Amino acid sequence: MYVCNCNGIRERDVQSALEAGAERPADVFRHCQAAPQCAKCVCDMRRMIQASDEALRYAAQ
Ligand code: FES
Repeated sequence: MYVCNCNGIRERDVQSALEAGAERPADVFRHCQAAPQCAKCVCDMRRMIQASDEALRYAAQ
């Protein structure tokens, strides 16, 4: 499924960016060698980043 239609960034691309240490949407764009255009995807990226952070915190307990 596409997260960013402007740049063709898929969920797996965002996951790959998170695994590489992305902490904010700008990091995801950088990892995907893309730039934000309409920015409609930024909220979805933030949700994915937050979910990943929560999963890591839960796993660390
Ligand atoms: S949907 Fe990502 S920049 Fe437009």
